[in-house]
Amino acid sequence: MAKATTVFFCQNCGAQSPKWIGRCPSCGEWNTYVEEVIKKETSRESSMGEFKSKKKNSPTNIDKITAGKEIRIDTGTPELNRVLGGGMVPGSLVLIGGEPGIGKSTLMLQVALRFENKKVLYVTGEESDQQIKMRADRIGYGNPDCMILTETNTQNIFSFLEKLDPDILVIDSIQALYTDRIDSSPGSISQIRECAAELQRYAKLTDTPVILIGHITKDGMLAGPKVLEHMVDTVLQFEGDRHYEFRILRSMKNRYGSTSELGIFEMTGKGLREIHNPSEILISQRDEAVSGVAVAATIEGQRPMLVETQALVGSAAYGTPQRSATGFDAKRLNMLLAVLEKRAGFRLGVKDVFLNIAGGIRVDDPAIDLAIISSVMSSNADIPIPQQYCFTGEVGLSGEIRAVNRIEQRVAEADKLGFEKVFVSAYAKKSLVPKKYNAEIIFVRKIEDLIMALFG
Ligand code: TYD
Ligand code: MG
Repeated sequence: MAKATTVFFCQNCGAQSPKWIGRCPSCGEWNTYVEEVIKKETSRESSMGEFKSKKKNSPTNIDKITAGKEIRIDTGTPELNRVLGGGMVPGSLVLIGGEPGIGKSTLMLQVALRFENKKVLYVTGEESDQQIKMRADRIGYGNPDCMILTETNTQNIFSFLEKLDPDILVIDSIQALYTDRIDSSPGSISQIRECAAELQRYAKLTDTPVILIGHITKDGMLAGPKVLEHMVDTVLQFEGDRHYEFRILRSMKNRYGSTSELGIFEMTGKGLREIHNPSEILISQRDEAVSGVAVAATIEGQRPMLVETQALVGSAAYGTPQRSATGFDAKRLNMLLAVLEKRAGFRLGVKDVFLNIAGGIRVDDPAIDLAIISSVMSSNADIPIPQQYCFTGEVGLSGEIRAVNRIEQRVAEADKLGFEKVFVSAYAKKSLVPKKYNAEIIFVRKIEDLIMALFG
């Protein structure tokens, strides 16, 4: 006998409540509860039926467990391997999230088509076979063993999985799936949770890596509950500015690797192109120097990356000065402006300040501070900074330039790309051997030193 009940779910954390409540007691968010009708079957029989565990399970003494050599599956896409921590782990469940139209389906189809000698099943609940085929033609093929299945019912998917036994499974998207065991509509929290749980069981029992594509809501949350993030082994985020071609794949959670890694792609007419050397493309090639531009040597993950910061400082036309930052934390910009005002006497309180990181990317590395204050001062004075200058250092509240980690790697990258002067913190002196580089290294201790070195 089936019994219908309605339950309220928090869309943020997935908590349940028998009645509607305004504020979620579990995560503290307001107005996140939605009602769902659930009809649970009385038999708790799994819809997966045939997939029974092959392993006999028993508690084991920790000394007796042998840590086997980690197996990693090469995805054929080095940027994805890097973000996953060296390749895909058998039996792992990977969630890739991103805004609609950013290129999640393109990325995963491309990965599916590039796997060599692996049977890949790409299940889509959003597009028809023809649409996928057209996209595949655009991208170009590699792997003839890539199967496409248009299906949204998990029971049907599992029956195909039994027959096909693929090496890798891709689901586009988890929000489109539904299981017969639950009555609510596809995309609802209980459906997402149940489908993901079934796929997780499948991944663990058969040692097949499963990739789930997930949508993101307006405010950047993974649509569907946080429970999804808890269930999967790895959460990747695919992001970028729609108006630029660059796309960044970030790891937000990874049980098999570091979360600081980053993969960079460029969306072209023929799918996504991997960018192995980001510095060269993130710096715009100009014939002459313009004011308000400074290049920063940052590090994202394990990789040094040179990015261009652009500032525009002008008199505030209307009463309140405007501050806006793209690709950089606006609060941190305000802090840097306050430091410039207090420690170096710049009257920026009456000026509009706009800041932009070129290429539509976002930088969290504090080493970008030095380039940002340089570009702001350059725009304010309308004096260009020579194009061969590069900056790396964090700015403290007292106006001191602080040393940053992995300084050698940053300087080496700037040197490799032909920069002539690299401005670093004076506190980094002991970790650098200036003779090793062609570039001249300028040590600065305070903002005043920087002003002297730049504008004399
Ligand atoms: P898509 O992969 O469908 O995004 P998602 O699955 O995240 O919603 O994104 C496709 C977008 O990328 C679409 O705007 C068209 C564009 N695109 C290209 O520019 N080049 C290509 O080769 C492909 C396949 C898509
Ligand atoms: Mg899609």
